[in-house]
Amino acid sequence: MTPNPIQDESRKSYELPRTLAWSGGVDGTLALLDQTLLPHRVKNRVCSTAEDVWNAIRELCVRGAPAIGVAAAYGLCLGTRPFRRQSRDDFLAKTREICAYLESSRPTAVNLAWALGRVSKAAQSHPSASVGEIWDAMLAEAHELAREDMETCRRIGEVGAHLIPEDGGVLTHCNAGALATVAYGTALSLMYIAREQGRKFRVYADETRPLLQGARLTAFELSAAGIDVTVLCDGAAASLMSSGKVQLVVVGADRIASNGDTANKIGTLGLALSAKYHDIPFYVAAPRSTFDLSLPDGGAIPIEERPEAEVRGGFGVDVVAPGVRCFNPAFDVTPVELITGIVTEVVLLEPVTAKNIKQIFERGA
Ligand code: MRU
Repeated sequence: MTPNPIQDESRKSYELPRTLAWSGGVDGTLALLDQTLLPHRVKNRVCSTAEDVWNAIRELCVRGAPAIGVAAAYGLCLGTRPFRRQSRDDFLAKTREICAYLESSRPTAVNLAWALGRVSKAAQSHPSASVGEIWDAMLAEAHELAREDMETCRRIGEVGAHLIPEDGGVLTHCNAGALATVAYGTALSLMYIAREQGRKFRVYADETRPLLQGARLTAFELSAAGIDVTVLCDGAAASLMSSGKVQLVVVGADRIASNGDTANKIGTLGLALSAKYHDIPFYVAAPRSTFDLSLPDGGAIPIEERPEAEVRGGFGVDVVAPGVRCFNPAFDVTPVELITGIVTEVVLLEPVTAKNIKQIFERGA
């Protein structure tokens, strides 16, 4: 597989463990950086079955919309591998079954279904091939998805880097960085490219309760890249904006409806409302694979609800009195009226309209 540029030996400050990597050939395994252990332990979880990948996605060992898509693509290869000697019809039936199973791991990020769809299509588009050859084509497609993800994320950074304010402050939420993708990230890609361009800026990372992706992951990867980053409690974001220290808010996305309404990590809606009040531009950065044109608006986006225990205790001791209920939606939907623009790998959509969203799917790569 193409090496991760963020790990390039010649750029020491960019050294980051890889989010995911397939190792070996037909008998290979998928190594996922276990993000539940970061930033204190850098350890891979090795997956050799679809169940391993399903659990890794559900437990947020691998997370972030593009990364779970690529992980699931490899998961489909792992899950169908034992059936390489079956008849074509049986193999394709198994492929559909495992695809549905992997898709059930997390409901909000559309990249998951999109990536599984790409690998399933590769399975179906070789009518005269043997089952072994079909499987090889599926693995090749998963590799291609991983390669494309890296290229796409870099392009997102190149399209949007000019938005990073010189000597200014950028606020981000959750982790939409290299750890959420194969490399570079989406929202954080703008920062990596701006830094490559020699620009100076400060990043404020919301800690992102309850699972602390901002504190544990965004701060980890930005500081590894030598970018000035400060972590704040989610509740401090509005006050930070009113202090004048933030000139840009940029976040990732898990699913964008055809009108531009955007689902992202819980707390994003509050940031967008506050940014509007403080007259601070609010951008979303996402690849085209995060758009779901089958949905008219954000009301139709399925929102994952996670276990109460994550709010009750998260990564530490329980802080809520026994018997008290906890509410734990993992995502919220920001209406398009609050979004200044969407940075994609092909163009910056600004303003965001159903018409210009449609157009980015009508053009080539
Ligand atoms: O629950 P997570 O950690 O998977 O949530 C991730 C996010 O909300 C990200 O902002 C989004 O997936 C974009 S990642 C490039």
